[in-house]
Amino acid sequence: MVARTVDLRSDTVTKPTAAMRAAMANAEVADDVLDYDPTALRLETEMARVTGKEAALFVPSGTMGNLISVLVHCNIRGSEVILGSNSHIHIYENGGISTIGGVHPRTVKNNDDGTMDVDLIEAAIRDPRGEIVYPTTRLICLENTQANCGGRCLSAEYTDKVGELAKKHGLKLHIDGARIFNASIALGVPVHRLLKAADSASVCLSKGLGAPVGSVIVGSKSFIARARILRKTLGGGMRQVGILCAAALVALRENVPKLEDDHKKAKMLAEGLNQIKGLRLNAAAVETNIVSNLVSKVLECVFHSSSIHLDCKMLSQVSVACFVEYFSVDSTKFMREHENIHLLYISISA
Ligand SMILES: Cc1ncc(COP(=O)(O)O)c(C=O)c1O
Repeated sequence: MVARTVDLRSDTVTKPTAAMRAAMANAEVADDVLDYDPTALRLETEMARVTGKEAALFVPSGTMGNLISVLVHCNIRGSEVILGSNSHIHIYENGGISTIGGVHPRTVKNNDDGTMDVDLIEAAIRDPRGEIVYPTTRLICLENTQANCGGRCLSAEYTDKVGELAKKHGLKLHIDGARIFNASIALGVPVHRLLKAADSASVCLSKGLGAPVGSVIVGSKSFIARARILRKTLGGGMRQVGILCAAALVALRENVPKLEDDHKKAKMLAEGLNQIKGLRLNAAAVETNIVSNLVSKVLECVFHSSSIHLDCKMLSQVSVACFVEYFSVDSTKFMREHENIHLLYISISA
């Protein structure tokens, strides 16, 4: 009998808890576009405090948070942003910074640990003397944790180095901190310290933290004032948005301490998968809530029951034969349907 289903496709598949639903039902609200919504203001004030920034702004998604942040920093068409070859902004956000913002991306290779070599970042900065032919570098983006590298954490020291480089060249630093709370818990370093060198950051509430909707961007008061206008331009101004922010406040209060457990489960999953003949994971590289199979390509994994019975599984070309033998999966069909999925995510629902 199926006792429980755990969906590991993403840490976004969480459901709001009873406490979140109650908070939403009882939220005090007003029109956040006309002036402000009191519950949104409470969330934004709390997020500014936790991240050590002057101000914060609730946005509907991480994608919009990153887009707004890049556009505020690169407000002249033909600006260039330096970002990781494996970054979410570059790969998964529909090229919005280019199609909507006229911002040119310049990628630097992400190392397996999620960093980009600082000397390679410096080498990618355009020489202003060549402005007759070059775009103008205005921004560097980091991602912490780096999702596509398997949820690896960037240290405060590394981020500081990139921040110093940005300052030296008159550039801004934005951090896609979709999972910055995971990094903070894993490293034992407060979020505000990890973001100290950043001019702006976007933080997702709807991933590991389990809120149903939303991200918050943080930065200086003037950055947030410009971000608020852009949010409206992009259709992200929401009226009684306190309904959503109320759930996010519960997520902040109740779920941050649970992330440590997610990380332990991810590690356990990686070590367990490693016991399977033909599967090779670098379990030591599992630092947070994402299990990435960097050698063979791990696809989706849906557990049925807490025992070892795996239904419809996943696997790499290398190890698919072995998996088929183990679990009698229709491998060809599965590979066809899931060929792009190569990460497993652990979240509070798992
Ligand atoms: C690192 C990272 N940044 C940004 C996003 C975008 O968030 P959203 O799905 O809320 O647009 C994601 C989504 O998975 C992500 O993993």
